[in-house]
Amino acid sequence: MNQSTDSATDLLAGLDDATLLAQLGCPAGTLGLAVGDMLAHSNRAVIDASFDLLDLHANEAILEIGLGNGEHIAAVLDQASGLAYTGIDLSPTMIADARRRNADLIERGQVWLETADVAALPFPPGAFDKAIAINTTYFWPDLGAGLKEARRVLRDGGVLVIAAITPAAAIDQPFAAHGFAVHSDVELETACAGAGFGQIGITRFVEPLLDPQQENGPREFYLLRACAL
Ligand SMILES: C[S@@+](CC[C@H](N)C(=O)[O-])C[C@H]1O[C@@H](n2cnc3c(N)ncnc32)[C@H](O)[C@@H]1O
Repeated sequence: MNQSTDSATDLLAGLDDATLLAQLGCPAGTLGLAVGDMLAHSNRAVIDASFDLLDLHANEAILEIGLGNGEHIAAVLDQASGLAYTGIDLSPTMIADARRRNADLIERGQVWLETADVAALPFPPGAFDKAIAINTTYFWPDLGAGLKEARRVLRDGGVLVIAAITPAAAIDQPFAAHGFAVHSDVELETACAGAGFGQIGITRFVEPLLDPQQENGPREFYLLRACAL
């Protein structure tokens, strides 16, 4: 772990589960910055696996919903030439941190970041080739409405990838008792179909052991890929 991850771990040690869950749903302030650091580290494997599934090609326009602190954006842009990355997050703290981390890419016009809610994406219909949402559907007020917004801003034939912890893995998470929406594979597939997606495929991804090792062992995620009809 690097120094910033160490200090994030110190700040988060002893945090009660309800406070942690609120911060995961919308990181805010100094604590939120530490949560963002922790998430960027602990979710790196599932973030990488999700972007692999998105299968980026040259000159595509990508939207990430609930991006967190944006530590991964530079690596995403390395995956193909001429990519245009747009990221939105409900948290102004995350957007400010992501802007700071990616100032050069924003300056060059390759990255655009904005505070926004998935419920009302500030983009015209068909603006993106690909969209991705990692570890964020748990906090959306209405999964179906969020997915309809994702469909609206994708072009016909555009691709959506969602990564979300499986219900079985979520039971082991310390904040599971404080209520966040974990969806089954059937619920995710049904919501996607209802929002105008087809060719829906769901695989499972088990993350490798982290350093330091997670208290509850590696987590299992659904990786969903769907096509905008
Ligand atoms: C658990 S974090 C995941 C961050 C990152 N995607 C990752 O996997 O590490 C959830 C993120 O989703 C954002 N979020 C929650 N509800 C949202 C909404 N309705 N619209 C957009 N972003 C939202 C939060 O602010 C937070 O940054």
